[in-house]
Amino acid sequence: MSDLDGLFQAARAAQDKAYAPYSHFKVGAAIASVDGRIFAGCNVENAAYPVGSCAEAGAISAMVAAGDSRIAAIVVIGDGEHLVTPCGGCRQRIREFAGPDTMIHVAGPAGIRRSFTLDELLPHSFGPDNLTER
Ligand code: THU
Repeated sequence: MSDLDGLFQAARAAQDKAYAPYSHFKVGAAIASVDGRIFAGCNVENAAYPVGSCAEAGAISAMVAAGDSRIAAIVVIGDGEHLVTPCGGCRQRIREFAGPDTMIHVAGPAGIRRSFTLDELLPHSFGPDNLTER
């Protein structure tokens, strides 16, 4: 199994666990850290709708809690015919722990559909470097 296959399988397993009783739209995300570990997350909705969280946020939280802080690649998986690209907020969340060339792979049930660099999805981004120039 290739590294990307493994990351896809981790994202799909997390998607199965998603708690999405309101949107019925289950999302999974899996991060390969630069240190070579995999961290997965799923969306977790809430009866108070805005309090729900995205799959990417869960995966990032798991990574940080385990002591890793750099993303090498991420797979995001969702169902339906449209590409499940990370939402705007999650692009910024990924940005915090990734570089412009970090790969974001967008998957459907059958596998990876398209791959983007972070810079393609969040060009001219604001990040930690902006705050070190003060
Ligand atoms: N969702 C994610 O988990 N990640 C994204 O990048 C896009 C949206 C979730 C949030 C919500 O639970 C459901 O998908 C529908 O928006």
